[in-house]
Amino acid sequence: MDEKTISQAVISRLPRYLRYLAELKDNNIERVSSSELSQIMNLTASQIRQDFNNFGGFGQQGYGYKVNYLYDEIAKILGLDKTHHLIIIGAGNLGQALANYMNFERRGFHFKGIFDSNEKLHGKKIRDMYVQPMEDLENFVKENDIDIAVLTIPKTSAVKVAEQLVNCGVKAFWNFAHVDLKVPKDIVVENVHLSDSLMKLSFKINSQDNDFEH
Ligand code: NAI
Repeated sequence: MDEKTISQAVISRLPRYLRYLAELKDNNIERVSSSELSQIMNLTASQIRQDFNNFGGFGQQGYGYKVNYLYDEIAKILGLDKTHHLIIIGAGNLGQALANYMNFERRGFHFKGIFDSNEKLHGKKIRDMYVQPMEDLENFVKENDIDIAVLTIPKTSAVKVAEQLVNCGVKAFWNFAHVDLKVPKDIVVENVHLSDSLMKLSFKINSQDNDFEH
């Protein structure tokens, strides 16, 4: 499989497939047809078949898809068959909320440490972690095989902190700071802006209002 030839639209639908398949798995459902999946996911059955054809199909004519197999294959494509070690930089509102959310671990994302520059927070217990000073960052990253850093710090410091983390060996960023990081090409960055999602919601409300006006 050449992932480069698969469209971003398909890749962006995979986490949603995975979520629904996880629910089916939890309910001990072993097999699902594309039309059943289309009903629960509100997608057309042909869209689903087309999406899965990008990865060689996964299904059998007249039989449908084996839920466990499909789940495992999509998880593999998303790299979720591996375990990731994360640290959070910024133990404020957002950093603490993420640290407290247990479900990431179910998908193989393990929070190993949380750091902050504010000494008043040092030693504070957040779930099973204690907030550590930034001075301990370098050793911690090396000793704990950290591959992802979550940035929940203000934009004014995010670029510099990201540089420091790259020098320590961090290969990927889940960036909540509202700034574009300046990192080498081989470093992966996923920017998250909750406000984008809210703006999309606002657009939808707005379009609905406009429809009613007509
Ligand atoms: P907060 O003020 O509660 O927490 C920020 C923490 O970062 C503080 O504990 C502070 O001491 C620490 N910090 C500041 N500079 C640092 C540095 N150089 N090194 C280490 N720690 C440092 O803020 P909150 O609400 O948790 O938000 C964090 C950031 O995330 C803000 O910049 C905010 O704009 C952004 N944000 C982004 C969202 C998104 O959807 N992308 C949503 C909400 C917040």
